[in-house]
Amino acid sequence: MRVGIDKIGLFTPNKYVDMVDLAHARNEDPNKYLIGIGQSEMSVADQTQDAVSMGINATMKYIDRIDKDKIGLLVFGTESGIDQSKSASLFVKTALKLKPEVRTFEVKEACFGLTAALMIARDFVRVHPDKTAMVIGSDIARYGIGTAGEVTQGAGSVSMLIKADPAILALNDGHSAYSEDINDFWRPNDSKLAMVDGKYSTQVYLDFFSKTFADYKKQKKLETNDFDAIIYHLPFTKMGLKANRLAVADQDEATTEKLQNSFDASKQLSRRVGNIYTASLYMSLLSLLENGNLPAGALVGLFSYGSGAMGELYSGNLVEGYEKEVNAAGDEKMLKRRQKVSVPEYEEIFNTALDDPEDNEELTSDDEKGTWYFAGTKGNIRQYKVK
Ligand code: COA
Repeated sequence: MRVGIDKIGLFTPNKYVDMVDLAHARNEDPNKYLIGIGQSEMSVADQTQDAVSMGINATMKYIDRIDKDKIGLLVFGTESGIDQSKSASLFVKTALKLKPEVRTFEVKEACFGLTAALMIARDFVRVHPDKTAMVIGSDIARYGIGTAGEVTQGAGSVSMLIKADPAILALNDGHSAYSEDINDFWRPNDSKLAMVDGKYSTQVYLDFFSKTFADYKKQKKLETNDFDAIIYHLPFTKMGLKANRLAVADQDEATTEKLQNSFDASKQLSRRVGNIYTASLYMSLLSLLENGNLPAGALVGLFSYGSGAMGELYSGNLVEGYEKEVNAAGDEKMLKRRQKVSVPEYEEIFNTALDDPEDNEELTSDDEKGTWYFAGTKGNIRQYKVK
């Protein structure tokens, strides 16, 4: 029995900043952002979008096409959770009207959270093949205005349904994991902004990729050219490009071209949405599914990285007909609906969103009808509504 990804949905908020505008405002050459960092736009979350509302919106992309009663597990991975105690998944469960028998909780390890959730879900479905599991990664990346990391911010969520005989990606047995207790990126409990040593983080990411990729190939008796694509956690697309260069360093021209093309296909959404922490690797997967033109059976390697730090490499095979499960035109429409905001407008939205509204103040959403949003707190309890 094969277990894997059966459905996938992406959501990103309805505002963005153009990287050329940001470069001008920060007195940088636009090519530093466009080429050196590899980002062209970044989504901006206003006060009405948080990890929960974005997670609900990502799941709404496929909820009408699944049997909700079969869901036995819902795991939510996030770095930007909305409560120190209660799981974000409980708010999602209520919004989606899932049954009370669902086991549900939140997991955390920086950007690794959704991979952790996916692995738990895979094992759950292996033991309960008649049930399905839902996993959601949802984050707002906030480094701060005028910081070096500012250009690598973003906001969004990916939701996936994991099931036996999946329709998109069948996960292979085995994985290569590597962890070390280091300080490349962290966020103290009292800070809305991440702290990061970006250069060090890049080094560790690349080191963990080299280690896990070599170990995974040895473990599974695979060569680099057996992979049709290798996709990466993308805090910014240049990071993945650097890892992909390591992957193809000693390869022939055909393999290099194949893996460069598939990487290019996988980075398209990330270039426009920015970093969405836990969900970034899975936005790369969606981008590959939509732009990669890969045949059924294609072997895809996935490299997940969470600062702190945890790396994992695993693989899956594309399932016959996977193209029918994605909606490239719908995702393009979602990106096109975004309103471009100026840098001063973005700064104001950013600063306002650092704080919750006054208790009992009702927030309204300026997004499309049908969008879920954070409507403020009542008695310090978060309220979620649909427009
Ligand atoms: N044209 C083209 N490329 C240019 C350029 C120009 N005009 N100016 C600079 N560049 C290139 C640099 O050569 C460099 O490329 P390289 O990485 O291949 O060497 C790149 O742009 C970035 O320049 P750099 O001076 O290193 O940028 P920076 O000091 O502003 O920091 C990061 C960049 C990525 C370290 C910073 O944005 C950051 O810390 N981001 C957060 C990273 C993160 O999230 N880590 C944790 C999660 S994994």
